[in-house]
Amino acid sequence: MSATRLPTARGQSEADLTTSSPEQAEFSHVTVLREAVTAAVARAAADRAEPVIVDCTLGGGGHAEAVLAALPTAQVIGLDRDLAAIAAASARLGHFGPRFRAVHTPFGRLADVLRDLHIPDVTAIIADLGVSSHQFDTAERGFSLRHEGPLDMRMDTSTGLTLAERLAAVSLEDLADILYEYGDIRRSIGTARIVLQSVQEGADTTAKLAQRLAARLPRDRNVHPATLVFQALRIWVNGELDELQALLRDAPGLLQAGGVLAVISFHSGEDRLVKQMMRAQAPKKYGEFTRGKPQAAGDEEVQENPRARSARLRLLWRSRPDAPLGETGEDEDS
Ligand SMILES: C[S@@+](CC[C@H](N)C(=O)[O-])C[C@H]1O[C@@H](n2cnc3c(N)ncnc32)[C@H](O)[C@@H]1O
Repeated sequence: MSATRLPTARGQSEADLTTSSPEQAEFSHVTVLREAVTAAVARAAADRAEPVIVDCTLGGGGHAEAVLAALPTAQVIGLDRDLAAIAAASARLGHFGPRFRAVHTPFGRLADVLRDLHIPDVTAIIADLGVSSHQFDTAERGFSLRHEGPLDMRMDTSTGLTLAERLAAVSLEDLADILYEYGDIRRSIGTARIVLQSVQEGADTTAKLAQRLAARLPRDRNVHPATLVFQALRIWVNGELDELQALLRDAPGLLQAGGVLAVISFHSGEDRLVKQMMRAQAPKKYGEFTRGKPQAAGDEEVQENPRARSARLRLLWRSRPDAPLGETGEDEDS
């Protein structure tokens, strides 16, 4: 298990992500920071005849569509570990023809995917982390504390252990560590005990588990008491921080000169990992890599899409050897 702890000063709450009733079949997800991501990718692609962009978190295809529309000669490879996202984005972007292709894979395998496709390097890599509204909205996926769904929570339903299977095998101490590290839950042994007891006493759906937790955990006026527990369980089930670490390790080396890595995070723990890795790659103002200033959504976007409130976009540029030093990025220290 990763030892990285996730404080939750910012976070992705289900209330922000839920857009519809659980019955809805349409893939629904409002793309965050679309213009900022597209502008960074366009800048990286400016002097490339045929830019190649990887969208590591295809979801509904919002960022991929914006890039394909803005850059008429670009090719986009979209990755997602969720087959529903692959299907929805493929339908939405099919009219771009061979300029778009989708690959069902976790993005921690990015380097292997590009090697298999015989692509040595790419112009831009985008990652818009976390879950989509569609995943929360689809009750049977088991992400939602509001809907009656199985204890599943896997983004990729074709592989791996469900939440129920994991909870049946985990020790009290390990579960407490998971709740502490991924949910910043202070009284983690007590909360872990409540989770395991609830399941043993028959809480076999997300809504039942959420109700039992709500009855026994301290109340917060703004969020459902089970929100952080559900967040921690989801991060555990999907190995989310290990995935992010693998992506951050490999992505910089896969960028072309002048290329950009654009990462949107929603939790302060995720964002800290991104910041640390980008600082390690770009310790000086002028070097092989430079960092862009972190960007947040403006008031108007937050008004229209509350989920954008906690989004943070960070950029890492690979310098062009022939360009004056520092031309490809602005340094920052935040
Ligand atoms: C926030 S949504 C992306 C939304 C997309 N940018 C859009 O505008 O429609 C995140 C997506 O990333 C996928 N995802 C999360 N972690 C992943 C991973 N490690 N590997 C591949 N896909 C992942 C989820 O399944 C989900 O579809």
